[in-house]
Amino acid sequence: MTKKIAVLPGDGIGPEVVAEAVKVLERLRRDFGLKIEMETALVGGTAYEAHKHPLPEATLKLAKQSDAVLLGAVGGTQWDTLPRELRPEKALLGLRAELKLFANLRPAILYPQLASASTLKPEVVAGLDLLIVRELTGDIYFGEPRGVRTLANGERQGFNTMAYAEHEVERVTRVAFEAARKRRKKLCSVDKANVLETSGLWREVVIRVARDYPDVELSHMHVDNAAMQLVRAPKQFDVIVTGNIFGDILSDEASMLTGSIGMLPSASLDAANKGMYEPIHGSAPDIAGKGIANPLATILSAAMMLRYTLSEPSLADSIERAVSKVLDRGLRTGDIHTDGMRKVGTAEMGNAVVAALEK
Ligand code: IPM
Ligand code: MG
Repeated sequence: MTKKIAVLPGDGIGPEVVAEAVKVLERLRRDFGLKIEMETALVGGTAYEAHKHPLPEATLKLAKQSDAVLLGAVGGTQWDTLPRELRPEKALLGLRAELKLFANLRPAILYPQLASASTLKPEVVAGLDLLIVRELTGDIYFGEPRGVRTLANGERQGFNTMAYAEHEVERVTRVAFEAARKRRKKLCSVDKANVLETSGLWREVVIRVARDYPDVELSHMHVDNAAMQLVRAPKQFDVIVTGNIFGDILSDEASMLTGSIGMLPSASLDAANKGMYEPIHGSAPDIAGKGIANPLATILSAAMMLRYTLSEPSLADSIERAVSKVLDRGLRTGDIHTDGMRKVGTAEMGNAVVAALEK
């Protein structure tokens, strides 16, 4: 059966990097028997310019009707002064909530070819392969009440609500345990249970779910310690599961352990493994339109899409092998370039991956 993919390039470098991932998918469709159809729509600031809304009805409808969404990036300084409801970031939060994408998988893998790109000592990061499973539709991001109110003394006060219901913790914890089962069988749950009631309940639920996964070793860590351990000894981690806000922060930290945020893909999944796939990096307005952005994170996001939503693990492997081959040959975009390597632009990198695809 032909699967439908919504392609949402977005803002900044989004369209440039998505174009390369689409080339890869096109090649798989033409020559490797992948049964997909792709349809493109506007999202983010570019959607706001055309339709006065960052997530137009038509885009949301397409995303809902599709089996998977491939997204570039949203955002840009020119939209930062819009009311919060109309900012490009709101499109991302809207898609996550509307599509019920509660589990966000953010792998941080250090490619051996890029070991020197990390700011950490090679012995600390060599062979790094960790996965952060971030809860994506709850927590202080969506908690009510929220707002800015005026106190009795006339002073204004901003407030947000951190909240997690048991079922929200349980379902993302199960995703994390299942992922750990397929890896090195270690799961670390990150919370702030020494201070927050929300975290106390989070920990209780994780411990309860763990009874179903006796083959996976479970540990708990407070988020401040986890932030420290990630730079001190990141290889102690296999899978980390955590809430929305802690996961937002820790996943940026983890991505930089690899020194190359331009390499890291992500998947956001619902209960039926329908997903939205996007690079971890943002829209990088400073280099947009120059043809120099690294398309590999988006291409690797397409690989995750093949693995998790389209059930085509061998084609996912093909893409990942092609990326590795291109790195072996010394091709580098500016963000991962080091002495002696060949500097290439976005399209040249994408074309090289397409050419390196093998069954
Ligand atoms: C991310 C981003 C988003 C988030 C922003 C752009 C809303 O930082 O995907 O990590 O905070 O979740
Ligand atoms: Mg973030």
